[in-house]
Amino acid sequence: MVGDTTSVLFVCLGNICRSPSAEAVFKKKAADIGLIIEIDSAGTAGYHKGAAPDKRSQSVAIDKGYDFKGLKCRKVVKQDFKKFDYILGMDNQNITNLLETCPVEFQHKVSLLLSFCESEEQEVPDPYYGGKGGFEYVLDLIEQGSDGFIEHLTATG
Ligand code: 4NP
Repeated sequence: MVGDTTSVLFVCLGNICRSPSAEAVFKKKAADIGLIIEIDSAGTAGYHKGAAPDKRSQSVAIDKGYDFKGLKCRKVVKQDFKKFDYILGMDNQNITNLLETCPVEFQHKVSLLLSFCESEEQEVPDPYYGGKGGFEYVLDLIEQGSDGFIEHLTATG
């Protein structure tokens, strides 16, 4: 919790493609239905610390009304495990990396984004070394996961 507000941290490896896209998508979807929630994203690696989200992620998302302004890459820090109610990884490697440093008392907060929806995939694949189609597919999966996560939040109050 951040004060009285539920909070979610989206996590991928680099925090420049998938998790900032999830942050932008979820911010819009939450705002559209008036859901008050603290939203952030981070990476398990710090290669791109301080960088803006990847242009390819932005270009497939901006036409759909998602806003990446002000987003800047950061690495997951220990305080995140206490602060956030939900820590949602994009792939199984993210989950493994998170659980290596997450205290046992907070490990229940860590899960895959796509575990909240019925998707053809369980993981949001890393698009970094691929083409535009991979970025479009990632956005599609993130939208599905976000819709499922919103359903979960509204069902559990
Ligand atoms: P992301 O993608 O985890 O979705 O942000 C990546 C970004 C950068 C790298 C790998 C994946 N990289 O190796 O620099």
